[in-house]
Amino acid sequence: MTNQLELRVAAREQLTEDIVGLTLESVTGGLLPEWQPGAHIELSLNPCVDAGGNGGDNTLIRHYSLCSDPANRQYWQIAVLKEENGRGGSLFIHNAVREGDVVRVSEPRNNFPFVPRRKCLFIAGGIGITPILPMIRQAEAEGVDWRLVYLARERSRLAFLEQLAGHDPERVRLNGDKEDGFIDLPALLSGCDAHTSVYSCGPQRLLDSLEDLAAKQSEWSLHIERFSAGPVDASGGAFDVVINSTGQRYHIPEGQSILNVLREAGVKVPTSCGNGVCGTCETGVLAGVPDHRDSILSPEEREENAYMMLCVSRALSPEIVLDL
Ligand code: FES
Repeated sequence: MTNQLELRVAAREQLTEDIVGLTLESVTGGLLPEWQPGAHIELSLNPCVDAGGNGGDNTLIRHYSLCSDPANRQYWQIAVLKEENGRGGSLFIHNAVREGDVVRVSEPRNNFPFVPRRKCLFIAGGIGITPILPMIRQAEAEGVDWRLVYLARERSRLAFLEQLAGHDPERVRLNGDKEDGFIDLPALLSGCDAHTSVYSCGPQRLLDSLEDLAAKQSEWSLHIERFSAGPVDASGGAFDVVINSTGQRYHIPEGQSILNVLREAGVKVPTSCGNGVCGTCETGVLAGVPDHRDSILSPEEREENAYMMLCVSRALSPEIVLDL
């Protein structure tokens, strides 16, 4: 788990009817840690937090992409979509977080690194524009031939339009499904060549479609960041988990995640997404072989077996020793 910072909400701005932007600054006035486009931070939210900022067991951990300029370390900006049927984090931010509040935040972590190539096509769906904005800044600064397609159900749900204004409509294409119809993804991607990287963040259906299209060709490369994945696959044989600090052993039966078993036993593990896409529950592995089922670790990191996501990953060995 990364270090925690205490940041003040310097500004809160309603970006669209259902998206609020927060500007965060150090409570001590110092510079914030460095980050690169694609990075996110974790907010620890506690509806029962006391005046000293201390939370209890009800803390919600939610991750949000940084959407400001990495060169400006005086403040960070995030944007939060209000999800009425979500798990409570976004509603808490929309309803309760105000300017001047102090929030506990992790250092940035990057599961969606941007590696500029000669051409980049950015495809942002809804709030998925947030990690894409700093990538566009970097692409522009490095002379990359970039294009953005920014989609939402309705045009009124598109945020940050002032930042995107002034670009050629050939370069920045805005699309509200209701007003403009659905984007023809195969047609959009048919013009991409072997020098093109496609970066996308947005709803699962959009990313699934892009992955299907990417699998049918070998020209352009696809890089995506998911907010959520499909249902957790908890199939596979039973195994044991040992907590290194206490020596306690827990049996993980088929159909149960490590995370669920440990939480029911009172072992505290920070979590957020619960389906292997955010990295909050990443835990060191001291012995044993994980069966990695997350969407975060690279093939090299999987080979190393130094870390695993407890919400989805299981074990290929009879026992796993966790650095907890
Ligand atoms: S809680 Fe998000 S990866 Fe496990």
